[in-house]
Amino acid sequence: MRKKVTVVGSGNVGASCAVRLAGKGLADIVVVDVLEGIPQGKALDILQACPVEGADVRVAGGNDYGPTENSDIVVFTAGFPRKPGMSRDDLLWANYDIVKATVEQAVKYSPNAILLMVTNPLDAMCHVAYRVSGFPKSRVVGMAGILDTARFRTFVAQALGVSASDVVAFVMGGHGDTMVPLVRYSSVAGIPLTDLMDADALQQIVKRTRDGGAEIVRYLKSGSAYYAPSSAAVEMVEAILLDRKRVLPCSAYLQGEYGIQNLFVGVPIQLGAQGIERIFEVKLTAEEDAALKKSAAAVKELVDVMAPKLG
Ligand code: 2OP
Repeated sequence: MRKKVTVVGSGNVGASCAVRLAGKGLADIVVVDVLEGIPQGKALDILQACPVEGADVRVAGGNDYGPTENSDIVVFTAGFPRKPGMSRDDLLWANYDIVKATVEQAVKYSPNAILLMVTNPLDAMCHVAYRVSGFPKSRVVGMAGILDTARFRTFVAQALGVSASDVVAFVMGGHGDTMVPLVRYSSVAGIPLTDLMDADALQQIVKRTRDGGAEIVRYLKSGSAYYAPSSAAVEMVEAILLDRKRVLPCSAYLQGEYGIQNLFVGVPIQLGAQGIERIFEVKLTAEEDAALKKSAAAVKELVDVMAPKLG
C-alpha cells in the first residue's frame, strides 16, 4: 500500500511541500487547513499536475482530519510567518495555539506517525508537538538545519564559483539568530573551507546564513521563505519514507547530548523509517560549544515561557 503524508497548512510552505511531494510520487498526500476551500482547491490543482509530472498519487485537501487517518508522516507548516523586523521568536504565542490544536487533531488520527515540524519558532514548536503528542522523541523532528546549511552552501558556491552540490556544510543550534554555522566542519568536496576562503569572507557568509530568513522576509514584506524550506522538509520526508538513514542537521530532543537537557536543538541526526534513529555527537572546540550552549539557552527561554501552559 502506498504511504500517506499529511501536510498541515495550505499556505506557501504547505502547498510547496505538497507540490514537491506529489512530484516525487512517493506517497498519497492530504492537505489540511482551517481555511474553507483553500486546501481543497490547492490539492485539486496539484492532483491535476500529476498526469503531466508522471506521478500516480492521490492528493486531497480538506478542513477535517478524518482523511488524514493513518498517515506515516505529518508535516506541520500551519502558522503565521514573520513580518520585516520580527524575529522568529516573536511568533511564539501566535503559533503556539495553532501548533497545539493541529497536533492534537493529527495524532488522534495518526498515532503512529512521525511529526515533522516546520512552523516557527521551530525548536519551541517541536517542544509543543513533543509534549502535546506524548510521542517518543524519535518521532518528533524539526526542519531547520537543512535549510540553514542550504543557504550556507549557496553562498559558498556563489563566492567560489563551484557547484553547491559539492559544498558540505554544517550548522548546529536553534533555528534562530543564534544558530551556529560550523566552518571547521564545512568543505568543498572534502577540501576544508578554511583552505579556500579567508576568515573575513567566511565570517560574512556565516552572518548572511544567520540572517538568511530575514533577508527574504525583507524582500517579500508580507511573508517568509517557502521554496527552500519546502525543499528541506521534503528531503526529510524522503529520508523517512525510503528509510535512507540520511545524516542531516535537524532539530532533535536532546537528553544529555552536548550537555543539553530536555530541549530541541539542531544537531546532526540519522533519519530513517523510525524517525530520529541516532544523534551524532561531534567534538566541539570550547568556542563552538559556548555558541551551541548560547543557542540552546535561547530555545530554553521560549520553552520556559510556555511552561505554565504546557505543564
Ligand atoms: C526561514 O528561515 C521561514 O524560518 C524560515 O526562512
